[in-house]
Amino acid sequence: MSRNSLMLVVIILAAYLILPANTNAQPFGYEGTQVCGMCHKIEKYGNQSKVWQESKHSQAFKALQTPAADKIATDKGLKTKAAESKECLRCHTSGYNVDKALVGAKFKVEDGVQCETCHGPGSAYKSMPVMKNKEDAVKKGLMVHADVEKFCKTCHNSESPSFKGFNFAESWKKIAHPMPKG
Ligand code: HEC
Ligand code: HEC
Ligand code: HEC
Ligand code: HEC
Repeated sequence: MSRNSLMLVVIILAAYLILPANTNAQPFGYEGTQVCGMCHKIEKYGNQSKVWQESKHSQAFKALQTPAADKIATDKGLKTKAAESKECLRCHTSGYNVDKALVGAKFKVEDGVQCETCHGPGSAYKSMPVMKNKEDAVKKGLMVHADVEKFCKTCHNSESPSFKGFNFAESWKKIAHPMPKG
């Protein structure tokens, strides 16, 4: 093979390898808290699943399935029940508004504000080798938050019908779920 045609083969191969990644508009899929829990309920890793389960976030969808919630919805002029209204669901759960093909068998809208609400849909980053390589995980959909307080306030703000202010430091203490060091 001549040097030029070899270069051509290299370029074509490179294009095959690079282009799909660059033009990758394929959205990532939701897996569900149970899938994250396969590893994140392990004590050695900090059992984030338990912190979440015991937090209000795990109840956020159920909070919409009450007469009080339906009254809030009616008062706002909504024609649907709270748990069926986009206007409420957007802060109370995830995955209700995406193509069914992107929702894994174990994912539950009923899990409310869940792992993937805050960390991004995990179909491509949930495997151990990816999880251990943060840069790769971020490429595959893991959301990291440079400004955590600002992130919380995407929901904890006056667009919430029950909003009474948000103290970030106190609130973060209630839901902190660190990974043990070392
Ligand atoms: C196969 C086991 C496994 C599964 C499944 C898994 N993780 Fe992880 N995850 C880990 C391990 C191990 C780490 C620690 C990686 C390290 O620091 O070396 C980690 C780290 C993380 C981090 C911290 C990333 C960072 O470096 O800041 C987040 C956030 C996270 N996982 C969220 C999730 C979510 C959300 C899911 C479900 C969609 C999930 N994980 C599923 C094993 C797993
Ligand atoms: C309300 C939003 C929220 C929910 C729900 C949530 N997390 Fe997090 N999590 C955060 C934030 C914010 C951080 C801080 C660091 C960051 O964003 O990168 C964090 C950090 C982590 C870390 C890294 C901790 C460390 O010390 O490095 C892991 C692992 C993690 N979360 C896993 C999970 C898992 C698993 C679930 C579900 C059981 C979950 N998280 C639910 C917001 C959330
Ligand atoms: C996707 C929207 C969303 C995001 C993002 C979010 N929350 Fe929440 N949070 C909620 C909803 C909805 C409730 C109410 C759940 C209920 O009462 O059933 C709630 C309740 C809480 C509560 C319990 C109420 C209380 O005052 O004791 C705490 C604490 C909390 N969130 C902390 C945080 C922190 C800290 C962050 C950022 C790391 C955060 N939340 C990000 C939606 C969100
Ligand atoms: C901008 C985000 C956001 C929107 C939109 C939103 N909520 Fe909430 N909701 C929250 C947060 C955050 C909380 C926790 C308390 C607070 O700070 O408002 C909450 C708390 C609640 C609670 C109290 C739950 C409890 O444990 O007592 C109810 C009920 C509720 N919301 C119903 C609704 C209904 C009904 C709608 C739609 C009409 C709605 N929410 C729209 C963010 C939102």
